[in-house]
Amino acid sequence: AWLPPEAFRSLGARRVLVHGDGLLVDTVLHEVSRACARYGGRVWHSPSWDIDVDLVFALRGDDEPPSSAVRAARSAGESALTEIGDGGSLGDEGFLLARHGDVTVVLADAPAGLLYGLFHVVRLCAAAFDPERPPERHRPALRRRMLDHWDNVAVHPVMGQVERGYAGGSIFWRDGRPRGDLARIREYGRLLAASGVNAISVNNVNVARTEALLLTDRLGDVAEIADVLRPYHIRVHLSVTFAAPVVLGDLSTADPLDEGVRAWWAATTRTVYDRIPDFGGYVVKADSEGQPGPFTYGRDHADGANMLAEALAPFGGVVHWRAFVYNHHQDWRDRSTDRARAAYDHFAPLDGRFRTNVVVQVKYGPVDFQTREPVSPVIAAMPATRIAVELQVTQEYTGQQRHVCHLGPWWSEVLRFAPWGPDGRTVADVAAGESGVGGGLVAVANVGDDLFWTGHPLAQANLYTFGRLAWDPRRDPTAVLDEWITLTFPPSATADPDLVRRTLHEIMDDSWRTYERYTAPLGVGFMVNPGDHYGPGVDGYEYTRWGTYHFADRDGVGVDRTRASGTGFTGQYPPYWAQVYESLETCPDELLLFFHHVPYGHVLHSGSTVIQHIYDTHFAGVEEVTAMRRRWRTLNGMIDPAVYERVAERLNEQVRCAIEWRDQINTYFYRKSGVPDERGRDIH
Ligand code: GCU
Repeated sequence: AWLPPEAFRSLGARRVLVHGDGLLVDTVLHEVSRACARYGGRVWHSPSWDIDVDLVFALRGDDEPPSSAVRAARSAGESALTEIGDGGSLGDEGFLLARHGDVTVVLADAPAGLLYGLFHVVRLCAAAFDPERPPERHRPALRRRMLDHWDNVAVHPVMGQVERGYAGGSIFWRDGRPRGDLARIREYGRLLAASGVNAISVNNVNVARTEALLLTDRLGDVAEIADVLRPYHIRVHLSVTFAAPVVLGDLSTADPLDEGVRAWWAATTRTVYDRIPDFGGYVVKADSEGQPGPFTYGRDHADGANMLAEALAPFGGVVHWRAFVYNHHQDWRDRSTDRARAAYDHFAPLDGRFRTNVVVQVKYGPVDFQTREPVSPVIAAMPATRIAVELQVTQEYTGQQRHVCHLGPWWSEVLRFAPWGPDGRTVADVAAGESGVGGGLVAVANVGDDLFWTGHPLAQANLYTFGRLAWDPRRDPTAVLDEWITLTFPPSATADPDLVRRTLHEIMDDSWRTYERYTAPLGVGFMVNPGDHYGPGVDGYEYTRWGTYHFADRDGVGVDRTRASGTGFTGQYPPYWAQVYESLETCPDELLLFFHHVPYGHVLHSGSTVIQHIYDTHFAGVEEVTAMRRRWRTLNGMIDPAVYERVAERLNEQVRCAIEWRDQINTYFYRKSGVPDERGRDIH
């Protein structure tokens, strides 16, 4: 993935001094030693004599280190901080990179900063040693940068080992037991640390019987994972079932206001911390898609979340309480219920009632991880609550890691969106919180025991990009992709690195928009096959209980979510967007059918009609995918043949599937509307 040995070439050829103690400093030392052993450099740990070095990793402090190299590095670092205009704290995870004469200095307040500083030096390669490089200070914008694994311990009869997993089995579990490959988990931890991720939840949010036991009888399995990931500064969290006191504890109720239930959670949580002192906390999917929750006892989500928060508080743990709550038994005939409204209707009234160690975890869109959705109105509706925004790195609705779909540009749009209007705070600001106490960024993971981690080798870029955007949401996603390409495809004897880089950008930069073009149009969403969610199924969900409809008929298509004549969903936004989305004049084209039901002849801002837009984008999408495949073929012989073949095989499937999408969507709308394609292309 993005840490091939070659990525350490520049670092590994240097003379390196590491000053500091503790587990994470040992990790830095270990990484540097490994690189130096390979590339001929040398490393010293807190030497007591004077030496000449090229690179110093040092913790700030007022102790008097015996080595003048450390003293000099520290004082150079302090002056660089003053020069940058910030002599203050670098924080728990931040670091400074500066030059002092011929020496590169990485300075941090805490060991985690040195670890992140190390991976920054790796990313920069030779540029980290450029004498002209001005000093830089780095601190993560978001405190928690977390991946949720939807991994089952036992194989689920429908969802398999990993729910919505497209990369083989789980790296943690197999057939009801730990998979037992701790070396692989350690490698995973390294990759995550190098991208900036610092927390993971190790089991599916849908918690079945075997998985419930992770909290008690199988806690040792969780502790083992925590031990392996700790040296990479990654904390482990656990998805728990709200019914645990009944399922595991022989209690007759899980009522959050019951004293016995509270005592059970307090005692159980204490045992967890006895075993895993830096345990992160619980993730909970409650009263959602059949999972148990407080509604059973006539309580609300604040009652439920607060009970768990109370149990975790003495140990500094948090509850990630998911806001993905809606009626999944809707009657499709019922036009008054709107799934998009549900999270806001349930959660916004509870603002102010959650304890400070509750994080309400909100999917980025109001429906379900679609290729295009508006940003969830819940994000702006709970100013007194810590909000985490949840993304989906696993490509459930975006091609299932059989299609190239680089999601960086989409996430970047979401994170930069300003829910109160263009000059207001952004989604990333909300996740960061005032004075850094926000809920952070979470994503559903996309890795498995596949040889390339992610099934589609190019899907690794999504995992990497998630971590990097969680560290700094303002970063340009194309620059992040460039970083990923540089690390993952180091120059080799057979490759022209510029050609590889250019070709990968051509294939990946716009691939999310390409995917959007050949799938559901104009923000209407879904139109996928029910169940596995892969491939076109235009009416697949139209007459089901799931609340995801497009309402196409002979005259038009789209969901009327206006206040004037529809479900009133637009009214859940602050005034600026409520107005923009409400009006056909101002609603952005790409979200038109999410908010409005319009005739096929409706003219978009682009000048095209809705029906012609559908035809044009679907033809264009297939052409773009065909071009991707052509471009990839020019790399044959330039990259690892196994990677080449895997991607080539998946591009064949992407072309096949895109054609299927194009033809089903175009034919469906031609048959509904009777309007022919202006350009007379083949529609069936
Ligand atoms: C989607 C997905 C489910 C998952 C759910 C969730 O609906 O299809 O598999 O359980 O999201 O986020 O909880």
